[in-house]
Amino acid sequence: MKKVLFVCLGNICRSPMAEGIFKQKTREMGLEDIIESDSAGTAAYHIGENPDPRTLDALKKHGISFNHTARRAIKKDADRFDFILAMDSQNYRELQSILPSDFKGLFKMRDFDQEGPGTDVPDPYYGADDGFENVFEILDRSIDEFITKELLRSPS
Ligand code: 4NP
Repeated sequence: MKKVLFVCLGNICRSPMAEGIFKQKTREMGLEDIIESDSAGTAAYHIGENPDPRTLDALKKHGISFNHTARRAIKKDADRFDFILAMDSQNYRELQSILPSDFKGLFKMRDFDQEGPGTDVPDPYYGADDGFENVFEILDRSIDEFITKELLRSPS
């Protein structure tokens, strides 16, 4: 079983969108029995909430039905997960300070984006609705690359 955690700031926009896309893709690939996923936030503002309605709309537009209850990322996530994917460099730094220093599975989501390697998944929370579609497209291609180039190549 391989376990993947997606992390953003509030756990209501980018990371639940990533989790919804990832679950759909791994289901379509018949991998749902060997891969588990979750998402979390580095901040506490939205704990217990469902994803932002604009996140759910963007997923629905692409045929993905999904729900999630927001939670905060914790140190113990390093024991539970093989990969922890941060949406931006602020989340990445925050995770570096929470997780044990010998945890080897921390990446930035866009390390896997051939169109903008290493850059941030932009925070769509305060922007216009089309920001969510932009985030969807970034995540869609980055997750494909993560699955084929990292996840499926890692020892089980
Ligand atoms: P997320 O977006 O980190 O992608 O879930 C945000 C959600 C909420 C806030 C900021 C970003 N906020 O400031 O409440």
